[in-house]
Amino acid sequence: MKRVYAADVLGEANKPVLVQGWVQETRTFGGLKFIILKDRSGQIQITLPKKEVKPEVFDMVDKITKESVIYVKGVAKKSEKALMGAEVIPETLEVISLADAPTPIDTSGKIESDLSVRLDHRFLDVRNRKSTAIFTIRSKLFKAIVEYFDENGFVNINTPKLTTIGVETGAELFEVKYFDRKVYLAQSPQVYKQMFGPGAFERVYEIAPVYRAEKSHTAQHLTEFIGVDFEQAFIESEQDIMDTVEGMMRHAIKSVRDECGEELGVLKRKLEVPVTMPRIKMEEAKKMLAAKGYVLGPDDDLGAEEQEVLANLVKEKFRSEFFFVYEYPFAVRPFYHMKPEGRPDISKSFDLIWNGVEIATGAQREHRHSVLKQQATDKGIDLDKQMAPYAEIFRYGCPPHGGTGLGLDRITECLLGLPNIRECILLPRDPERISP
Ligand code: 4AD
Ligand code: MG
Repeated sequence: MKRVYAADVLGEANKPVLVQGWVQETRTFGGLKFIILKDRSGQIQITLPKKEVKPEVFDMVDKITKESVIYVKGVAKKSEKALMGAEVIPETLEVISLADAPTPIDTSGKIESDLSVRLDHRFLDVRNRKSTAIFTIRSKLFKAIVEYFDENGFVNINTPKLTTIGVETGAELFEVKYFDRKVYLAQSPQVYKQMFGPGAFERVYEIAPVYRAEKSHTAQHLTEFIGVDFEQAFIESEQDIMDTVEGMMRHAIKSVRDECGEELGVLKRKLEVPVTMPRIKMEEAKKMLAAKGYVLGPDDDLGAEEQEVLANLVKEKFRSEFFFVYEYPFAVRPFYHMKPEGRPDISKSFDLIWNGVEIATGAQREHRHSVLKQQATDKGIDLDKQMAPYAEIFRYGCPPHGGTGLGLDRITECLLGLPNIRECILLPRDPERISP
């Protein structure tokens, strides 16, 4: 007999069906018993009127614990009173996997558990409609991002996560014992995406784990997250890179909106595809902030608070949840970001902010070996000695190029308006949490 999903039982009214799933709960009202069964499509009610089902089937219900796996063969019936407008009257009921009782967390959503307890038992925690909706949307978002890159000529690459060099500022490296040597977990695929983007295929992207040994305790920071990285060659300026980020985000949001109507309904979330994403120079952003009493010096970075204040100002002025800030001070950017001609103080770099949260950092890179070497020296790095494999990229034909790193987890968090990034990653890693 072919399996019928909970959501499709109504369409099989008056026919025999086989439903398979987990027991959400059982209820007994004298001569009438119910089982709520859930599967990946939703929930369905199994109704057992004492007079209509076999006595052994009727008696079994009391022994079935929550979260047990059962297979039920019976007749589908239309029922206005029941969940999903249908029910199954069982002929046979088979317990495939009896769950221990009680479960460590309530999976019905009626009793709330602390996030940390939920994460300890994550596979049980996500066995519900809301979590299924979050992770289905994350999966569609991933697909849409791949689709965008694919349609725009980007080659997917996989680069090593065990490395010996890092190029990002601020982010710390995790040390790994590698036989008798010390290596590091990659803090970004920066070196490799430049090696194979402008170095070979022109356009590359990678979606893979990124590691940051930062002791941050915020709703936005993890020590392991999924980075969406791309690199694009033969550009005119960082504006081309912002165009790609914008196009990708628009395609991703549109795809999720069009393909995940049901899931968005479960999460009570409405998505709007952004028409434009205003691009604001850092100098202008600082003027806007100063007018509100947040005074920053020319070499200062934007902090989380300033980003939020700015987000509110932009929302008022441009009616946009998104905006780019560009021309960050060179002082707060890594050595490989290009400087505009005649402006040694700033870089051709940008961040994309969504509802006050940074979701992307990108830049045009410096591709001229001698200039790059000098910029590295200025930041205390001997490029040719300390980063010889990276330096080589610029010695055998390197076109103007740029790229961006985005965080998939951050994008999902912002897309769904979640209170914490940990809600949309199955097993988050942070300074305290490294298990399960
Ligand atoms: O801003 P980041 O550090 O930039 C880079 O990694 C550069 N290689 C990008 C480039 O191509 N120039 O990280 C990029 C993005 C951030 O904007 C954020 O969305 C996410 O990665 N991110 C984090 N997500 C979760 N936890 C963390 N600790 C994160 N750090 C960065
Ligand atoms: Mg950044």
